Amino acid sequence: MWNENELTQKLGITYPIIQAGMAGGVTTPELVAAVSEAGGLGTLGAGYMSPSQIREAIRQIRQLTDKPFGVNLFIPETPDIVDTEVDRANDRLRSFREALAISEIPTVEKISTAVFEKQINVLVEEHVPSCSFTFGILPKKFIQQLKEKNIVMIGTATTVEEAKINQENGMDMVVMQGSEAGGHRGTFTGAFEEAMIGTMALIPQTVDQVNIPVIAAGGISDGRGVLAALVLGAQGVQIGTAFLTSIESGVNKQHKEMVLHSKEDELTVTSVFSGKPARGIRNEFIQQMEKYQKDLPPYPIQHTLTQGIRSEAAKQHRPEWMSLWCGQNPRLCKQQPAGKLMETLVRQVENKIEKARLLSSSHNNG
Ligand SMILES: Cc1cc2nc3c(=O)[nH]c(=O)nc-3n(C[C@H](O)[C@H](O)[C@H](O)COP(=O)(O)O)c2cc1C
Repeated sequence: MWNENELTQKLGITYPIIQAGMAGGVTTPELVAAVSEAGGLGTLGAGYMSPSQIREAIRQIRQLTDKPFGVNLFIPETPDIVDTEVDRANDRLRSFREALAISEIPTVEKISTAVFEKQINVLVEEHVPSCSFTFGILPKKFIQQLKEKNIVMIGTATTVEEAKINQENGMDMVVMQGSEAGGHRGTFTGAFEEAMIGTMALIPQTVDQVNIPVIAAGGISDGRGVLAALVLGAQGVQIGTAFLTSIESGVNKQHKEMVLHSKEDELTVTSVFSGKPARGIRNEFIQQMEKYQKDLPPYPIQHTLTQGIRSEAAKQHRPEWMSLWCGQNPRLCKQQPAGKLMETLVRQVENKIEKARLLSSSHNNG
């Protein structure tokens, strides 16, 4: 059967389809549970959540489903805060703050890894079935903690080298994020520009070099994409954008509308919102800020500085100043229940397999 492999077995799921953990309120417990109930792996995007919010969301998911699910976290980055750099960035953001009547300038505090440690503790204490990480490699002590609880660990990579590093460090499987992907790049070695490899090239080269199951991510939103990824050697797919427009998604309404109405040539990869490159819909904020792209404070400092602007822009219905993350597949996205999307993906894969079977038997008979 197309859907039975090491990945589905390890994760305890029926279909090798993972709904990407999307931080920032997209992945409501309802979305996660709907995907898991439909036989995939729903994932809570918990990168920006406090430990207590994560615990509460996990408990809510468990009230909605008894199926396996995942929690996604960010490996913390702790750059030094350079005051002159922060002041310069605030100067560049002033006109947006003024237009939105934001009087408060956020304070940037020394970033500590203590919160991350507490987030991990919640995953261990709640004994979640699986967890995934992006932006780097999980420190050894946490790997040990999660392994002891038999929690499946999924890393993220954007090059074959990064996939190998994930494997060497004990990840059970790895998401290969192609350049088509919406949201932040997971690149953690070298320049991101050199790690903009399309999913089609990334998957076969990776499966030839690592032994752990490979998960394809980026530009997949229907059964054609799922089957193609499996043919290339992936054992599963991770889908973000197509679930972002689902009914259960907690994404801001304007963001959802923009994705539903955008096209593949209206997107770009930009660091202006957070200091880390991410793919989203091109808008006025990006156009005005991209001249500063090469000298922005690093992630997550720029993220903190633009936070108020992004959330106030959402409140004031100004999508032109919001971060509108989106993969290169917006034309295939629909507003529909997540369970219906799962059902459609599975049916489309099965129809394609059946068609290929009929074609080959008619060739054989002919
Ligand atoms: C709105 C949005 C938020 C995302 N947030 C996260 C995140 O918090 N953690 C993560 O590992 N990946 C995140 N991603 C990236 C996904 O894991 C995945 O690589 C991507 O969605 C796959 O491409 P697709 O959007 O074309 O399906 C996000 C993607 C989107 C679209």
